[in-house]
Amino acid sequence: MLFKKNFSTLPIKKKVQVLTTKENSTLVDKIKNQLLVRNAVIIAHYYTDPEIQALAEMTGGCVSDSLEMAKFGSCYPATTLLVAGVRFMGETAKILSPEKTVIMPTLKAECSLDLGCPYEAFSSFCDEHPERTVVVYANTSAAVKSRADWVVTSSIAVKLIYYLDSLGKKIIWAPDRNLGRYIKNKTGADILCWHSTCIVHDEFKTQALKNMKKLYPDAAILVHPESPQQVVELADVVGSTSQLINAAKNMLQNTIIVATDRNIFYKMQQLCPDKQLLIAPTAGEGATCHSCASCPWMAMNNLKAIYEVLTKNSQNNNYQIQIDEIVRQKALVPLNRMLSFAASIDRNPKIVR
Ligand code: 13P
Ligand code: SF4
Repeated sequence: MLFKKNFSTLPIKKKVQVLTTKENSTLVDKIKNQLLVRNAVIIAHYYTDPEIQALAEMTGGCVSDSLEMAKFGSCYPATTLLVAGVRFMGETAKILSPEKTVIMPTLKAECSLDLGCPYEAFSSFCDEHPERTVVVYANTSAAVKSRADWVVTSSIAVKLIYYLDSLGKKIIWAPDRNLGRYIKNKTGADILCWHSTCIVHDEFKTQALKNMKKLYPDAAILVHPESPQQVVELADVVGSTSQLINAAKNMLQNTIIVATDRNIFYKMQQLCPDKQLLIAPTAGEGATCHSCASCPWMAMNNLKAIYEVLTKNSQNNNYQIQIDEIVRQKALVPLNRMLSFAASIDRNPKIVR
């Protein structure tokens, strides 16, 4: 079955209004105050602007990958979770913590993987293969999660598929075809893959990366598995955002070429300030330039929008994540399976390969 990709909803990159240092620090103070007034905490992804990541850190919030964001939101005692990221991250927080108010600087922050996997088409696809276990990436809507047996993030995807394969399960994987192919090659599992892509990672260019490596022969190459296969094949390390950050810190090489969203450099630079970090090329033959290694939806989060959403009436639905209760309860089941699986790996990393 084919689903035509349509990125007509891709946000037009607006020129961000640059704030002076004084305006910036006044805004930060106002946000800090509002966080206290609202009993709120910021949960930010590594792909958001460095100033948002810094703000989350200095206010006791969390900066992490999508798995840790989900865990943090459900454990932290604040009554309002401000999720700086894309909508599926806000939805995941709401599914896990229905009693909390979950707000986002904008609900228009989408993800091409989520957009490329609409519920109706995906559900029919699953119906055509009832014998298969349905595993969906966290980068999906609450409705798609509600159709799944398992939810998974890139940090534990390979481990989960090894585990399911060891039980003899045949799998439907959605939505990212690059990540699906990577997992299939790695585990040898029987996987039927949906066909969405991430507009950021799909743009990394193989030949241009080879050329770059010639310029920096001693550099290590780190790649997020949402990238095309030939780019993954050039990698020294393939991993989720947090795994790439750890690799950057622990590798002996002083120059590191990274194929993922460039805002990951904020955390990498914090952990290895003396290393030279370079973004992998997205230009060259066949370039589409949707992103230039910067997710346009993540970029919709900014300090002004964060302040504004914190000052809105808590009943204002334009900024609040709302999920139909039946959908939420169904989506909670595969999400909880993921969290239990992740906890069992944390307790005993050797239970799966
Ligand atoms: P992580 O799960 O590694 O944080 O990745 C989320 C994402 O959107 C990658 O593009
Ligand atoms: Fe989605 Fe790609 Fe943006 Fe991640 S980087 S949120 S996968 S569009």
